[in-house]
Amino acid sequence: MSASPLAAIGFRPRHLLGIEGLSAGEISLLLDLSDSYVEQNRERGKKSTLLRGRTIINLFFENSTRTRTSFELAGKRLGGDVVNMSAEVSSIKKGETMTDTATTLNAMLPDVLIVRHPDSGAVKLLSEKVDCAVINAGDGTHEHPTQALLDALAIRRHKKRLQGLLVAICGDILHSRVARSNIHLLSTMGARVRVVGPPTLMPARIEAMGVEVFHDMKKGLEGVDIVMMLRLQTERMQGNFVPSVREYFRLYGLDYDKLKAAKPDALIMHPGPMNRGVEIDSEVADDVDRSLIREQVELGVAVRMACLDVLTRDLLASNSNGGGAA
Ligand code: CP
Repeated sequence: MSASPLAAIGFRPRHLLGIEGLSAGEISLLLDLSDSYVEQNRERGKKSTLLRGRTIINLFFENSTRTRTSFELAGKRLGGDVVNMSAEVSSIKKGETMTDTATTLNAMLPDVLIVRHPDSGAVKLLSEKVDCAVINAGDGTHEHPTQALLDALAIRRHKKRLQGLLVAICGDILHSRVARSNIHLLSTMGARVRVVGPPTLMPARIEAMGVEVFHDMKKGLEGVDIVMMLRLQTERMQGNFVPSVREYFRLYGLDYDKLKAAKPDALIMHPGPMNRGVEIDSEVADDVDRSLIREQVELGVAVRMACLDVLTRDLLASNSNGGGAA
């Protein structure tokens, strides 16, 4: 039995808590594995048996459509047993702490806990209290690693590379875990990153992450290959960060006029959920020739299958997808 590519580069993570700290080789390997799952998901029979007998718990302390559903589908398509738990209907509502909730779930011997939490660092803290693998499904303004992986996969499938691309991440950078994970990933893979947005929505000392900062959309979009839009994360804001939605759209909303500054073949991305008419014009968002937004959602399932695979597999397994058709 030959060693898997995972073993070849010694990649056997216990958890996936962030992109920061992953090497270019490890990211490439996750993207290559995700690519193989895209093909599996496009077949009529989408299921394999890789995770047969394994238990995955989705523990979400914050709302989600894409991440939670795609992790559930990912686990099920790999043949695992998936349990969805929402904090809203759990004993957290009776005063149980996050740590006690985690240790309670840990006692039921899951193999993977997937956790979303409004506080930065909460998922790491939880990972220290359990025996199973933990995947960060978004913690506060810190990281959303699987979002950055699916974004990178979408870019790589269209542009055939990440190295040397110029990517503009635009909007509410201050409150965005998606921006942080994407900056780490794209920089590690050799892309150049610009962040574009109003000064009130730009974190202090963001330049230290190796990005260029712009406060004018047309200047920030000049010559870029990728335009990644972010929504105003009002649930994390205390007070007003922009004068009005109308003014925000005029200055920072992506429309065809501002998009003209980017390369003619520049692609449009958005992690969702979108606020049409706030950070992005509806026509631009739905442009089938330039918008990757729908495809990002599709690729999210494949990326999450790859992450579950990597965190649960035996390093000596030699095949890339593992398991046959169920
Ligand atoms: N992009 C993203 O995390 O979307 P959800 O909040 O719907 O999971």
